Amino acid sequence: MAKYDFVNAPDRSGTDSVKWHVKKGELPMSIADMDFKTAPEIITAMKEKVNLGVFGYEWPEDDYFKAVADWFEKEHGHRPQQEWEIFTTGVVPAISAIVRRISHIGDNVLVQAPVYNVFYNSIENNGRHVLSNDLQFNGSNYTVDWEDLEQKLALPLTTLMIFCNPHNPIGKVWTQEEVQRIADLCYQHHVVLLSDEIHGDLVRQGPSYTPSFSVNGSARDNVISLISPSKTFNVAALHAATAIVPNSNLRAMVNRGLNSDEVAEPNLLAIPGTIAAYEHGHDWLQALIKQLNVNFAYAQEFISKNLPQVKVVAGNATYLIWLDVERISTDSQKLAEFLEKETGLVLSPGSIYRGNGNKFLRMNLACPLTTVKDGLERLRAGLTKYSA
Ligand SMILES: Cc1ncc(COP(=O)(O)O)c(C=O)c1O
Repeated sequence: MAKYDFVNAPDRSGTDSVKWHVKKGELPMSIADMDFKTAPEIITAMKEKVNLGVFGYEWPEDDYFKAVADWFEKEHGHRPQQEWEIFTTGVVPAISAIVRRISHIGDNVLVQAPVYNVFYNSIENNGRHVLSNDLQFNGSNYTVDWEDLEQKLALPLTTLMIFCNPHNPIGKVWTQEEVQRIADLCYQHHVVLLSDEIHGDLVRQGPSYTPSFSVNGSARDNVISLISPSKTFNVAALHAATAIVPNSNLRAMVNRGLNSDEVAEPNLLAIPGTIAAYEHGHDWLQALIKQLNVNFAYAQEFISKNLPQVKVVAGNATYLIWLDVERISTDSQKLAEFLEKETGLVLSPGSIYRGNGNKFLRMNLACPLTTVKDGLERLRAGLTKYSA
């Protein structure tokens, strides 16, 4: 028997799950959490903590910071110094706090659309402007428009760039050269580079991603990496993440921002859960990636055989598949609503990620293969009906 179970998924309806808050018979393949149980090693560590029965104030000690550093060294070939790390209660809370601390009201915060929609909330809800260096789509792949990036970084009001590394929703793993080039350009133009690396452990094939804290030269003094076990191990409700900031002045600013926004203190499971994930999670993660590759291969083959009007734009990272539906609709919101109404399949409309997202749907494949098959059948039925 396999050591880990990626065939069954617990029934999360009625459990306060955001993803599974759907109507009876609906199939949510939208919000980015997984239907699989997390690694048993993490559950054991959490149970031990709960059994202690006393849950007073906590802060992370050396073993937490060491577990993070060891994980990066083993998994990604780069070891952050432990003193560079700051605990925080999530990547999004940290992004919002850093936007408030590093930039000013009215400043431009640069992103690369289409990108994770919550970036826009963190920027706009804080009175900053979104400026996008839109990714360029050539029909099968996305690339950076470097000239446009440099122009936008050079604007005096651009003070912060939020980089999605690897990139949600397109699944792209930026190369070492690309990460270095972006960091160098940010440094030249005095723009702080905030790199959201929450999907960094989920590179399904090809070389590992490049953490921004590992860039060379002066550019390293200007970067903030945000990492977390939440996507990797399906522990979003753990509310645990780490900011890695090599430069001590920038780190002090980030620290002040996280603390004054009160997003720097762990809950009772955050520390033991994270340490267990990073110390014992390697084998589970490898098994997960194997399953995700099976799911992606199945979806790609199903779509090319049965839905030739849909084009898969699959990068090497994340469990999210980005579907080009331009030949069916350029109104992804309307198409997603139709699919939900007609088939119960809930997907994320690409429009929420802006850029050219209106021609795309995002589908979450982090579920048992039987669910992937169900979702694809619903997609086929819905698209056939839509085009009829
Ligand atoms: C790029 C990216 N950043 C952050 C998050 C959420 O981070 P957290 O739950 O730690 O706030 C997500 C979740 O989908 C994501 O895709």
